[in-house]
Amino acid sequence: MKSAEIRQAFVEFFEHHGHTRVPSSSLVPDNDPTLLFTNAGMVPFKDVFLGRDPRPYVRATSAQRCVRAGGKHNDLDNVGYTARHHTLFEMLGNFSFGDYFKREAINFAWQFLTGTLGLPAEKLWVTVHESDDEAAAIWLDEIGVSSERFSRLDEDNFWQMGDTGPCGPCSEVFYDHGPEVAGGPPGSPDEDGDRYIEVWNLVFMQYDRDASGEMTPLPSPSIDTGMGLERIAAVMQGVHSNYEIDLFARLLASAAEIAGQNDIQQPSLRVIADHIRSCAFLIADGVIPANEGRGYVLRRIIRRAVRHGHKLGVREPFFYRLVGALDAEMGEAYPELRERRELIEKTLLREEEQFARTLDHGMRLLDEALASLTGTTLDGETIFKLYDTYGFPFDLTADIARERDIMLDEVGFQRELEAQRSRARAASRFGARLEVQLELEGESTFIGYEHLTGEAEVRALLNDDGERVERLEAGQSGAVVLDRTPFYAEAGGQVGDCGTLTLEGVCFAVRDTQKRGRHSVHFGEVVEGVLPVSSPVTAQVDAERRQAIMRHHSATHLLHEALRRVLGDHVQQKGSLVSDERLRFDFSHMEAVTEEQLREVEHIVNRQVLANTPVTTRHMSLDKARELGAQALFEAKYGESVRVLTMGTDDFSIELCGGTHVPRTGDVGPVQLIGESGVAAGVRRVEALSGMAALARFESQRDQLARLADELRTRPEQLEAKVAALVERNRDLERELERSRSKLASQAGNDMLDEAEEIAGVQVLTRRLEGVSPRELRGVMDQMKNRLGSGVAVLGVAGDDKVNLIVGVTKDLTARIDAGQLVGAIAPQVGGRGGGRADMAQAGGSDVAGLDDALAAARQWIADRLGR
Ligand code: ALA
Repeated sequence: MKSAEIRQAFVEFFEHHGHTRVPSSSLVPDNDPTLLFTNAGMVPFKDVFLGRDPRPYVRATSAQRCVRAGGKHNDLDNVGYTARHHTLFEMLGNFSFGDYFKREAINFAWQFLTGTLGLPAEKLWVTVHESDDEAAAIWLDEIGVSSERFSRLDEDNFWQMGDTGPCGPCSEVFYDHGPEVAGGPPGSPDEDGDRYIEVWNLVFMQYDRDASGEMTPLPSPSIDTGMGLERIAAVMQGVHSNYEIDLFARLLASAAEIAGQNDIQQPSLRVIADHIRSCAFLIADGVIPANEGRGYVLRRIIRRAVRHGHKLGVREPFFYRLVGALDAEMGEAYPELRERRELIEKTLLREEEQFARTLDHGMRLLDEALASLTGTTLDGETIFKLYDTYGFPFDLTADIARERDIMLDEVGFQRELEAQRSRARAASRFGARLEVQLELEGESTFIGYEHLTGEAEVRALLNDDGERVERLEAGQSGAVVLDRTPFYAEAGGQVGDCGTLTLEGVCFAVRDTQKRGRHSVHFGEVVEGVLPVSSPVTAQVDAERRQAIMRHHSATHLLHEALRRVLGDHVQQKGSLVSDERLRFDFSHMEAVTEEQLREVEHIVNRQVLANTPVTTRHMSLDKARELGAQALFEAKYGESVRVLTMGTDDFSIELCGGTHVPRTGDVGPVQLIGESGVAAGVRRVEALSGMAALARFESQRDQLARLADELRTRPEQLEAKVAALVERNRDLERELERSRSKLASQAGNDMLDEAEEIAGVQVLTRRLEGVSPRELRGVMDQMKNRLGSGVAVLGVAGDDKVNLIVGVTKDLTARIDAGQLVGAIAPQVGGRGGGRADMAQAGGSDVAGLDDALAAARQWIADRLGR
């Protein structure tokens, strides 16, 4: 059975048993900041298990792409060393949300394995949690599994998604690949071999684990199962290694060809074939190589792959060339891969090129360190140096060390890393004061979508040290928390509001508003009176500033959509800043945006502004918003009601957003793009102005033009012609100057020849020149030598604070007088140094007054040399 057929058979089996088929979600979990990647089929359903996300179905099935690298479930280190671990794999799963439980789950699994797939019962082995008598009874008594192929285990049979989240005891089904493969049954000392392979895990979801480790029962017991497609494919295709299944054949062949290898079994080729899958999908799902977070995991995987290529002797970028083979294999089932192929290739190529610059040097350093190693552990300092200077992630060094049976001093490495971090922290204490912890019940109600002013009550006051206080007095800075507020707290790139909080005789000036938990915190200072806790205040947002912010925010949405239309759908928001003064928008795109494209974007935005259509806000379910094609950056939860902003003609821009916006696009005013730059690999930044800020810039540009025109005694509209004429005239003048200079120089040359004196039968000319730039010295010297025919010339020019000397010796004399030596001997007189060839040498110095002495010294030196 081909992998695709197994995938198909699985979901059809469960559809047939009343499950709703749910497509694979992105590898970047959009409902969970606690999780690095989607690492199991259940991740997209996390909130459904927790009872927070009601769905129209209680049974679901999916084939979910998963990445297990970094984070809790991390298989990266094992890839290449076992026959069954991958960074990316596909997980087939069936789920019950408070519907069926253990009995049905076990029955479904057995039916599918032995019925649909036709696997013989005697090749299977089953495990349950040691305490789970219920599951044990179902397997042994109802299904009739032999007690000889059954074990109860402890930790191995308790599954949790991460340090927090849904978890529960589980039951696993193993396949026995036969005695010719090394390894023992589950629970035996050599269970880690490749003989007994876990193919299916049935998790009986019962608890939600919190950060302290406490487990609260779920609203209702549920089922989460996971079967690795690659593993079951190996079983069905009669091979012992996942790398021998159909999904890998093309990738391995293509990797072998690119690397010029004949032996397809090489571990390095497997690593490369594995890694291209995770890297390509991660990029397709919007991850970009970076130095932290998800991007760093991606970078680590890419670098690990590139290093394995290096190990095979590949010295050109190669990794990106595998995307084609992957596309051929999986592009059909995963259209996003095909759509983003170019982006994936470019991202990989760039990353490879970047790492190639340090890989060689780092490998040399590591090889040397390993060669001179006494003992079996590599020190933390070397690991850190490789990390910091050569970009070797820790696990990359570990991978190389493992090949040579060397261990790493991870503690030492962490120590070095921590030392570097605290150096960095010390360097940026700024803003530490804002790090207040707020323990306060309730939340602040935001009334600022409709109102810029409102009555409120002071719920809490904090002083500069973040401590709760009863009052703040004039001159004191601190923070105020209100029960309701029109002040927008910084979020989604939009800066916090400024303004005032007042009551009779008291004024607190708000300089910034920030979110802390569910509260908005107003930072600032008391400028008048005493502000006590619990007092009523009038909260007044600086309206002009806020309006400018709203213009920039709405302009950002228009800009985002315009960029997508001009550059393509791959444009995804990567960050933004929206203030009263300007806007900044970062987005994924591989190359610089051309001037022409920027013009087009600007044009589209301004046309939308002029269309002056209403900006509408609606609340709806996330699914509905997705259906509408809304762009989303922040991590919304399934089922949660989201705020959707629509603006422009024909719903030009639809975006999830919590920010504040103008009522009609026309209110944005003129929009001007003012800059485009790169901020990281694959991320570009556009900056723009709108409203008064754009107007102010137009004005200043107009004034500048007027001043220029004035200066050039013309009118602005004639500036271009005027400047062109000036440039032309300037060129003519330069040419003319050049001609008269060389005329003068040749005249001067003739005069100078007369000054040459004879020392021991050799013509010697020493002289100070005027009106010659240091750059022209060489040319003058060449002429002098020509004219002398045979002789020595020492010329000097003195500027305000710099002296230049040049010495020339005609060829026939270089055996007797060496220009380099001569200039070296006299340079100290002008406080400098020099050198050159035997026939031409130069020196520079700073002692302007010493020039005449230097020339005299030259004559003396020559006389001494010639033995007069
Ligand atoms: N969530 C379970 C696993 O990943 C099925 O093993």
